[in-house]
Amino acid sequence: MPDFPILDGKRILLVIAGGIAAYKSLELIRRLREQGCGVRCVLSEGGARFVTPLTVAALSEDKVYHDLWSLTDESEMGHIRLSREADLVVVAPATADLLAKMATGLADDLASTTLLATDKPVLVAPAMNSLMWAHPATQTNIAVLAGRGVRRIGPNAGSLACGETGTGRMAEPAEILAAIAAVLDPLARGEGPEPLRGRRVLVTSGPTIEPIDPVRYITNRSSGRQGHAIARGLARLGAHTILVTGPTAEPDPPGTHVIRIETADQMLAACQASLPVDVAVCAAAVADWRVRNVAGQKLKKDQGEMPILELVENPDILATLSKAGPHRPGLVVGFAAETQRVLEHAQAKLARKACDWIVANNVGPGTGTFGGERNTVHLLRATAEGGLASVEDWPLLSKVSVGERLATAIADHVAGTPRAVS
Ligand SMILES: Cc1cc2nc3c(=O)[nH]c(=O)nc-3n(C[C@H](O)[C@H](O)[C@H](O)COP(=O)(O)O)c2cc1C
Repeated sequence: MPDFPILDGKRILLVIAGGIAAYKSLELIRRLREQGCGVRCVLSEGGARFVTPLTVAALSEDKVYHDLWSLTDESEMGHIRLSREADLVVVAPATADLLAKMATGLADDLASTTLLATDKPVLVAPAMNSLMWAHPATQTNIAVLAGRGVRRIGPNAGSLACGETGTGRMAEPAEILAAIAAVLDPLARGEGPEPLRGRRVLVTSGPTIEPIDPVRYITNRSSGRQGHAIARGLARLGAHTILVTGPTAEPDPPGTHVIRIETADQMLAACQASLPVDVAVCAAAVADWRVRNVAGQKLKKDQGEMPILELVENPDILATLSKAGPHRPGLVVGFAAETQRVLEHAQAKLARKACDWIVANNVGPGTGTFGGERNTVHLLRATAEGGLASVEDWPLLSKVSVGERLATAIADHVAGTPRAVS
């Protein structure tokens, strides 16, 4: 099932230029194909030195184009048609050289000619040595391209293929995929109806980690995928979305303000600092307990006795946010991750926490919910008195679709209610 429903059936022209990061574009092709995209690739001369046309053709399941002067290619397709028969042109990796050609309008090979001839949106994922990236020439080219509406994802900071560290790493395939979906999604571009515009929402996501000593910690299996998808869904409907997240490998959802934390205490503090909000969705898997006395130094095995970890209860973020008061969000949504008697436990949680809705899901062994792509959830709504008003059973959906559907339900609910911040 697609992670980004918007990508199904879309046509991507992927230009792969000559950088080490070209190997990551192979993974990008695979992921785009998984989403149902048609992927046609142009390899620059440099690009073909890093990945072979055979691999690119096999993964994209299409012919690969690299020669401007190929009589066969020109008669079959032609570089102008190539540049127009796509919904989006993606350049990954975008080398300093190709960015310079794009900025100055050079067209001396198939990649640059195609980019000059296109009338489609263009997304670049730069990748290069950090000094090349920081060079005023590259920065000027980037500014010129941004001024012309060329979208960009990355580069990220980190260790570079040249052995140095700095800004210049190509964005990861998952990040590029999310950026592609955002460019192609009229709602994410702010071109559709935005029922949550002017609304401020808070989403928590991911696990928390609770230290034992400077090197060890207690955590859980939450991937953050569902929470991030909800934040994405809310931002897509125009909400000012604050995402408070524990450590996850998920890319930042486009258009959200991300606050990274590690412990439950930090998550609570970040949530409280974000109030007032119209809506709070607590999707994070907050550790119930933390270690009472965190060791200042690494606990050593050879110090005789086995350490006994005394646990103390963590703050209950959902219950705290649900407490009546001037800053209580108009709608508080909790999550119930259960391994058995899902609805029964979810209903009890709805009453116990005094929240308004509970999204219940089964995370038991064999369900594949933790870390997986899909989720089967039930939406429980409370009456004003805290009883059970209704239960909706949603079908098996991708986590992105659950996020979009929940965001729509939230938008319907808050329509017409006063705003937390005017
Ligand atoms: C081993 C090696 C790695 C390279 N990596 C990069 C890179 O990551 N980014 C970049 O902008 N150029 C890189 N270059 C330089 C480009 O390959 C060179 O500028 C080439 O002309 C780019 O052509 P193209 O943009 O048409 O693909 C690298 C060159 C070599 C030999």
